[in-house]
Amino acid sequence: MELFGDLVEQYAEFAGHAAGESPCFEAWARGVAGDEAVLAWLTRLPRLKQQPNLVFAAARWHGVPAPGSYAGLRRALLADDGAIEATILARSTQTNEVGRLATLLPAFAIAARDAAEPLALVEVGASAGLCLYPDRYRYRWHGDGKEHALGSGPELACEVAGPVPVPAAVPTVGWRAGIDLHPLSVRDPDATAWLETLVWPEQEDRRERLRRAVEVAAAEPAYLVQGDLLDELPALVEEAQAFGRVVVFHSAVVVYLEPAERRRFTDLMTGLVASGACHWVSNEGRRVLPDVTATAGDVTPLLDCEFVLGLDGQAHAFTHGHGRALHWLG
Ligand SMILES: C[S@@+](CC[C@H](N)C(=O)[O-])C[C@H]1O[C@@H](n2cnc3c(N)ncnc32)[C@H](O)[C@@H]1O
Repeated sequence: MELFGDLVEQYAEFAGHAAGESPCFEAWARGVAGDEAVLAWLTRLPRLKQQPNLVFAAARWHGVPAPGSYAGLRRALLADDGAIEATILARSTQTNEVGRLATLLPAFAIAARDAAEPLALVEVGASAGLCLYPDRYRYRWHGDGKEHALGSGPELACEVAGPVPVPAAVPTVGWRAGIDLHPLSVRDPDATAWLETLVWPEQEDRRERLRRAVEVAAAEPAYLVQGDLLDELPALVEEAQAFGRVVVFHSAVVVYLEPAERRRFTDLMTGLVASGACHWVSNEGRRVLPDVTATAGDVTPLLDCEFVLGLDGQAHAFTHGHGRALHWLG
């Protein structure tokens, strides 16, 4: 088992994230973490393709029932004729979760403060661009017996802790653009079926929210640029200047960059913010942008919030990875 140390750790950690959210994925991840034959099967894949989310989605894409037993997954992987492996190699985890907007909106509102102009949004790692429409949802933040609602459209509910600066209004968006290595089209049924497959098995509410988000975006598809965020971002920020106050944002994206690229991205964003070209809203796991995370001090996150929300490099909150909760720092 020592041979598979990193993989065992990766799957055990994923089981921890899935606990309480998807009993099926928790059981599958624990199953893989203790199964030498399946771990050996996974080692044929490139490191970035060994992620539980991708492997499980590919298995479901080829008919493995979920919710379903670990035995079903195991059988399918070990007997794979190449179809599951080909899907893993051809596709990637592009989970596009608009629920995250409920945690990003207070940061957008701070960035928009005192602006006479609308926001010009640039999302790096946009997937299908579903998060580029913060102005098309109703938000409901609740906690401590209180509730604040704002906006109209499909509802995004979020449990909160701490002094969340609930915005007085949903910011106006004048322009929306995104960058992705593989932009997905909301008008392509294959792409939207894959996005649905990426939603965890028992989470029918998330699947329903995804369908509504696809409708929102399909009514006015965003401008999506294909390419690496490090290459494409400076020109897009330049282009955005004509359309309003520029906000570059990302969630669950920088984790896919190698450590040296994460450093380059942090330096790029720090430089753009310092030059006044844009604001920067980041929402990533705690270990992903250590410079941002360090500014949170040693506060313990509440409400299962494992992401850090940053504005211009400064941590403002911890957030739940799918946007279900927000712990604002005092
Ligand atoms: C998990 S998805 C998150 C999508 C979206 N940000 C959200 O929160 O719903 C990560 C996205 O980042 C994209 N991505 C990863 N590395 C990238 C890179 N170097 N340049 C551009 N996009 C990248 C992937 O293709 C994928 O669509």
